[in-house]
Amino acid sequence: MRKNLGKKTIITPLPVVMIGTYDAEGQPNLMNAAWAGQIDSHQIIISLATHQTTDNLLLKNEFTVSFATKDTVIASDYFGIESGRKTDKIAKAGFHACKAEYVDAPLFEEYPLTLECKVVEMKPDGDGFLLIGETVNMNVDESVLTDGKVDLDKVQPIMFDSSMNKYRVIGEIVADAFKAGMALK
Ligand SMILES: Cc1cc2nc3c(=O)[nH]c(=O)nc-3n(C[C@H](O)[C@H](O)[C@H](O)COP(=O)(O)O)c2cc1C
Repeated sequence: MRKNLGKKTIITPLPVVMIGTYDAEGQPNLMNAAWAGQIDSHQIIISLATHQTTDNLLLKNEFTVSFATKDTVIASDYFGIESGRKTDKIAKAGFHACKAEYVDAPLFEEYPLTLECKVVEMKPDGDGFLLIGETVNMNVDESVLTDGKVDLDKVQPIMFDSSMNKYRVIGEIVADAFKAGMALK
């Protein structure tokens, strides 16, 4: 038997992206965002309230997007429950920042997979913004590559389970995309 649960939205899996920005003094910051998606092969969209991060985005127009991992789950959650307006979150978490090569935004040693992005649009949306960004470079730690490709088994990205308010690891491969369905075609 099926049940109607009313006007609820669960898009799953939601990613756990970490937005890296600099403020006016060059202080690096990270925030956790799960309301994020990909529009085409180069653009991303993130729904944002107002934060230190949005101040930084409006100032610099450039940012990084890293993917939270199983190994970084405690710090990654911390970056979502503390504001850079109050605390130097990067120092508190013991993270290591350096400037990304293609954008004026920080890269973090602790995150193996990072997109370097430029703001296409910060569209006002209620009290916040819809951020549309364009990726200009993907930067990876070689340790997560297999045959030159990003290997998610090595990255171990986590997803946000908005139904249970939990982080989960991404599961195993179950089939080949664009091929498995050929059995029924
Ligand atoms: C799991 C999780 C997901 C979040 N997703 C978003 C999001 O998509 N958009 C948003 O505006 N805030 C989101 N937040 C809240 C921000 O990360 C949080 O307000 C943070 O403190 C902002 O940091 P900042 O002020 O240093 O920029 C999320 C927090 C958590 C823990």
